[in-house]
Amino acid sequence: MTILLNLNAEVLQQAQQQIQQDLQVALDGFSLPEPLKAAVHHTVMLGGKRVRPALCYATAQLKANHPNYAAVRRAAVAIELIHCYSLAHDDLPCMDNDLLRRGQPTCHVAYGEDTALLAGDILQSMAFEILGSRLFDQMHSVPAAIVLKQMQLLATASSKMVCGQVLDLQAEGRRVDQAHLEEIHRNKTGALIQAAIMMAAVTIFETGDPAIVQLRNFGLAIGLAFQVQDDILDITAETAVLGKTAGKDQQVEKSTYPALMGLEQAQQYAQQLHDQAFSALAYFETGAEQLHQVSQFLLERQS
Ligand code: IPE
Ligand code: IPE
Ligand code: MG
Ligand code: MG
Ligand code: MG
Repeated sequence: MTILLNLNAEVLQQAQQQIQQDLQVALDGFSLPEPLKAAVHHTVMLGGKRVRPALCYATAQLKANHPNYAAVRRAAVAIELIHCYSLAHDDLPCMDNDLLRRGQPTCHVAYGEDTALLAGDILQSMAFEILGSRLFDQMHSVPAAIVLKQMQLLATASSKMVCGQVLDLQAEGRRVDQAHLEEIHRNKTGALIQAAIMMAAVTIFETGDPAIVQLRNFGLAIGLAFQVQDDILDITAETAVLGKTAGKDQQVEKSTYPALMGLEQAQQYAQQLHDQAFSALAYFETGAEQLHQVSQFLLERQS
């Protein structure tokens, strides 16, 4: 059964439908032994806002009907697979030790720690395999140079995510300053969100196009804002809406923005980062409507 969170933004719903189909096609291309197959399905197909694919598709709308669109679809799948792997590992007892994810038991609760670890591992390899494949590209028209750029972006962002996770765990129970907290958040979450935008950007724009710099700035701001909000929602949202255990950060003394500067200031900071993101988008005279809509959704999100 497919469980999608209830979202108002139409652009998000369209992205969810598209990515749900594409993820299914992508997973169907792999032959996995049980219980790995079930654990991968659990981790990838059940719920999730699909924000990273939505940002990837929305960026591609800056040049609608681009001939390399197949590479955008593959990028969206690959990014979501890496994200899902990061969640399965993030929830493990040796990391955040969480029981609930996307309104479901976490992967290790459902399938055991060994299988959850291996599900994360294989999702990482699958992401790169899909990126280098001809999936969705009947004409085989996407130049190899674009695929290579996408792979480099995804690999760099995935490494940053892991480094950020290390810093996150080290910062538990400690008081870190704002610069350090920013480094954690930019790495563990911001990098992958920025990569979702940049992987589409390098597909549709030539190297050196000034649009790429604007999108990098947009991604930097929206990526950091995302984790600031994640920290805020851990305090302000209910478990039932969040689909994960609310109040968990305080319980384990995570270093978060509300813990550092207080809830209200963290909320103001999230707003400031969104303002920065919107001002980067102002560069685009046309084509950025979907990016505006996704950004607006992110600003208002309650889960
Ligand atoms: C949660 O990400 C983990 C972070 C990086 C903050 P999301 O809030 O995008 O989780 P899903 O994909 O919607 O479940
Ligand atoms: C998640 O940060 C970062 C990654 C998964 C890489 P959190 O630990 O705050 O995410 P949630 O709150 O468990 O989704
Ligand atoms: Mg974590
Ligand atoms: Mg966590
Ligand atoms: Mg969190």
